[in-house]
Formats: sequence, C-alpha cells, structure tokens
Amino acid sequence: EVRAHPAFFCEGEQLDPQEFFALFAAERRPDPYPHYRRWRERFPVAELAERMFAVSGFAEATQVLRDPAFGHPEPEYLDPADRLPDQPVDESGRVVRAFLSLNPPDHTRLRRLVAKAFTPRMVEQLTPRIEEITASLIDGVRGEFDLMTSLAKPLPVEVIAELLGVPLDDRERFAEWSHALARALDPPFLQRPETVEPAVRARQSFVGYFRELADRRRREPGDDLLSALVAVSDAGDVLSEGELLVTLTLLLIAGHETTTNLIGNGVLALLRHPDGLRPAAEAPDRVVEEVLRHDSPVQLTARTALRDTVLGEVAVPAGSQAIVLIGAANRDPSAGPDPESFDPSRAPGRHLAFGQGIHFCLGAPLARLEGRIVFRELARRLPELRAAGDPKWTATTTLRGLATLPVASGR
Ligand code: HEM
Repeated sequence: EVRAHPAFFCEGEQLDPQEFFALFAAERRPDPYPHYRRWRERFPVAELAERMFAVSGFAEATQVLRDPAFGHPEPEYLDPADRLPDQPVDESGRVVRAFLSLNPPDHTRLRRLVAKAFTPRMVEQLTPRIEEITASLIDGVRGEFDLMTSLAKPLPVEVIAELLGVPLDDRERFAEWSHALARALDPPFLQRPETVEPAVRARQSFVGYFRELADRRRREPGDDLLSALVAVSDAGDVLSEGELLVTLTLLLIAGHETTTNLIGNGVLALLRHPDGLRPAAEAPDRVVEEVLRHDSPVQLTARTALRDTVLGEVAVPAGSQAIVLIGAANRDPSAGPDPESFDPSRAPGRHLAFGQGIHFCLGAPLARLEGRIVFRELARRLPELRAAGDPKWTATTTLRGLATLPVASGR
C-alpha cells in the first residue's frame, strides 16, 4: 500500500504517488520539464511508498550523491543453477558488479585501477580520430537526413570501439549489443518487459566476445584501452577476469547512448534557438554544458540508504531507495538563474548531469570532447542546418534522447 509522508501535506495538498509515475508517461516525453517543475516545487523530497523516496531538489539530490550514508546494496549471492552462461561471479559465488554499483573500498580500488588505464591523456590523444570520424560522417550527408542515424548514433559507438580496440569487422555486432543493453536500463517501475530478454542475450554475447578479445590482447598487446586494462596494476593489485569483463560492459553502456543523446538533444535545442548553430561555432564547450544541464542525457539514478539518515528535513530509514531525478534537479532555480531557458551563451554553472561525489562520471572528459567536436564541426560544415519535421523521442526514461531527428542539410 502506498502512503504519503506526513511532511508532504503542503497547504492541504497531499502527495499522490501516481502523479510521480505519470511524470514519465509517453505523452509527456517531448517536454517533461513543466511537470518536473510543478513536482519539485511541492516535493523536493517525496516519500512515494514505504522506504521509497523521489528526490528532485538540487540540494537534496546533491546530498544523496555525495553523502556516504547513501550507496548501493551489497552484491547478491547466486546459486549456480541461477547463473547465466558466462555470468562473472567471484570465488564466494557473489555476482561481480561493475564499480558504478559498488561501495568503497571495492569501488575505490576498481575505479583507481581503471582510471590508471583510462587517462585524460588517452582521451586527449583521441582528438584527431574523433575529428576525422565526425568529418566523414557529416560530409556523407546530403539533402534531408536523420541526424540520429547519420551522426549521433554512429559517432560514439565508433569512438568507444576505437578506444577499446574492437576490430572494424566486429563493430556492427558490437553496436547492436550496446543498443540492446542501453534500452533495458530503466528501473523496475519503468522497465518495458520486451527489453529484458534481448539485453540478457546481448550481455552474454558481449562478455563472451570480450573474454576472447582480452585473451588476444594479453598475448599481443595493442595501443588501446583494452590492452591497458589487461595490463594495469596498482600496488600489486590487478583486475580479475570477471572484473575486467564487467568493466568493459560498463564502459560500453555508460559511454555510448549517453553521448548519442548529448548530441541529439543538443542539436535539437540549437535548432530551436534563435541563434541556431552560431553558438556552437563560437563556444562549443558552453553549448555542451548547457545541453547537459538543460536536457540531461541521464535523467535518473538511484541509491540505497546504508543507515538511518536525514535527507533535507526528512527521516530516511536504512534500506530505503532514493530515486534521484537529475533532469528535475538541474532546473532547480537554487542551482542557477533562469533555469528553464536554453541559453548556450551562459557561463557554465552547476549541474548533476555527470553525477557527483565518488561516482562522478569517469568518461566526462571523453563525452565533453566528443560533444565539443560534433557541435563545432556541424556549425562549420553545415551552417544552414535546419529542422525538417518532428523529432521522435525514445521510449526509455533513464536515458533521455531522440529516436529520430529529421533535418535538412542545406546542401
Ligand atoms: C558514471 C553520465 C559519458 C563512463 C556516470 C554517472 C552519470 C553519467 C550521471 C553517475 C551515475 C551515478 O552516480 O549513479 C554520463 C553522461 C555522459 C556520459 C551524461 C555523456 C554525455 C560517459 C562516457 C564514459 C562514461 C563516454 C566512458 C567511456 C562512466 C563510468 C561511470 C560513469 C565508468 C561510473 C563511475 C563510478 O561509478 O565511479 N556517467 N556519462 N560515461 N560514467 Fe558516464
């Protein structure tokens, strides 16, 4: 049974948890933000059900992401009969999880190991290659085209495949698995059942594929992230086979569709802005930050209270789930002035698009680099670009992005 928290009878108004779930209804997808705003103004922290909270205020969302009282539940033990083929488990039979969903000290150890291989220098070195891929994708378009199919989808998957050292011939399969995994990212209350089975299959194919590729790189190291991860060590510590495989899956999921959505959401916002692509030529870094803030590619994340704690002014018992509404928190006026308007010339302010605290996005430098290059190159190479029809949004909520964005190239 769902009950409202006594703290949330605001001037006689009672929280209706169904109203929360309606925030994510399909018909609101083109613009959920007015609904987010009305919700956030009334319930910056809302108890939706026993031990289930929704957090949309900027200060409260930041607290959940930074406060060690919130974290992730311990990895579960899996009976061998319940394991999927190829599913990595540790010696005591616990599921091996990627560091995105681990607490210290395991998170600290694994993130440090991966960060030693995935360095800002390695990202910086990708610049010419990202420029080359972007230029060739843009130069390939004529007349009217779908920006998602021609640019926003292929670019990040090409970049991450290049970074990891996935051979060219395998990239199509690789893109397919990645897409299936990204489609199934929604939390249980929003998950579409038809996405589960393909994601499970994709995860298996992916793990099997990377097991083989990692073996090859162990024998013949290349100049790529996979070879670096295979070889990385820190004070004698190395990634186990299972840790390596779940880390690779994490990098793929975290780095692919998120960046696709940064590009799609960004181009849509620019085309709807009176200055069009001009700001992208002048200050592409500002455009990237404003898109991240104004229409976050990642809209939701979640934490569990690891002990009894207080969030804002609300008591949160141990074991409670806190769903963080990143997209709503980013438009809280307490984070910066005039939050509802898309202003690509504004000086970058505070936002939670890459998270906060110990789980702050490890790929942020890469995502920012890709965003800067794409927006700049579009403004340079297709200055006449304009909308050519209504965009369609994807059916996922955690990842907010476009399925199609019809545009006219102007050439
Ligand atoms: C974590 C967003 C691109 C790798 C995160 C988190 C967010 C995020 C919100 C924190 C999740 C949480 O605290 O629950 C984004 C956005 C991107 C992007 C909006 C693009 C615009 C990338 C890329 C990569 C990447 C390109 C790597 C290739 C990671 C990893 C983590 C992470 C490894 C986990 C960090 C940790 O747990 O310590 N990202 N990300 N991300 N992201 Fe990204």
